[in-house]
Amino acid sequence: MGKIIAVANQKGGVGKTTTCISLGVGLARQGKKVLLVDFDPQGNTTQSLGFNPDALEVTVSDVLDKMIGKEYDIPRDMAILHSREQADLLPANIELATMEMKLLAVYIGREKILANYLKLVKGMYDYIFIDCKPSLDIITLNALTAADSVLIPVQAQFYSVKGLEQLLNTICQVITGGLNARLTIEGILLTLANPQTNNFKEIKKVVERAYGRNIKIFENYIPRAVTAEEAPAAGTSIYLYDGTGKVAAAYERFTEEFLSGNNVSVPVEGGGRYE
Ligand SMILES: Nc1ncnc2c1ncn2[C@@H]1O[C@H](COP(=O)(O)OP(=O)(O)O)[C@@H](O)[C@H]1O
Ligand SMILES: [Mg+2]
Repeated sequence: MGKIIAVANQKGGVGKTTTCISLGVGLARQGKKVLLVDFDPQGNTTQSLGFNPDALEVTVSDVLDKMIGKEYDIPRDMAILHSREQADLLPANIELATMEMKLLAVYIGREKILANYLKLVKGMYDYIFIDCKPSLDIITLNALTAADSVLIPVQAQFYSVKGLEQLLNTICQVITGGLNARLTIEGILLTLANPQTNNFKEIKKVVERAYGRNIKIFENYIPRAVTAEEAPAAGTSIYLYDGTGKVAAAYERFTEEFLSGNNVSVPVEGGGRYE
């Protein structure tokens, strides 16, 4: 049965989409069956895998629409695309923005719509990654409710670290409030790092001090490189765009660390405290 991992952080531009694609494609290249769920109306995962979000007639929104309408006889491969990078994709486009109102109008179980859908396809995959949007709204709550664990990319920068508490509190509420009692935290991945600077070393220490007791901080971090910035526009993962570069190498090492297990930490109230 597939493990479902939400890649989340309510801050934009921290490397959620890049991490989702690089880890998902990395695992697919090792022969794992992987589904990437684009769960952001910006459709960045969709675009980065070479599809034009605006040209797609069927997306994750149509799947959610059917689930809301209690049409559970959804064909297993409805909306699922096979990317040239071996991972499957459930794409998104701007239509997902209108789903927020539709979900809010659901009387009972509005947070469980995606979870109920993923139960139908979970058996087809080893891993399902959900690329979340940069907010903690009902769409992201659906992702956290559907997930077995959350992977948190954090930009190695002072203010990104401070903003983590809000996300960790939401995760705690999802667990304790009965939406998803089994949810765990996969770990924190530092991204967009300038490892040679003192600032990076300081930030790493701050994250470890504030959260390291309760949450796994991955040993591998992702350095900043121009090629990683260029890859999305080319519609490819970093492996196809710059397979020998330092970002591809860092994601390869991170994929191994992810696979090595023992990542899962259970959050306590507040998930740690920033001091
Ligand atoms: N390691 C990296 N080095 C340089 N640029 C990166 C790196 N990772 C991501 N980027 C770029 O930073 C921007 C934000 O990354 P993205 O993964 O889209 O973040 P999010 O999904 O959290 O908004 C994108 O333009 C992306 O191409
Ligand atoms: Mg994104």
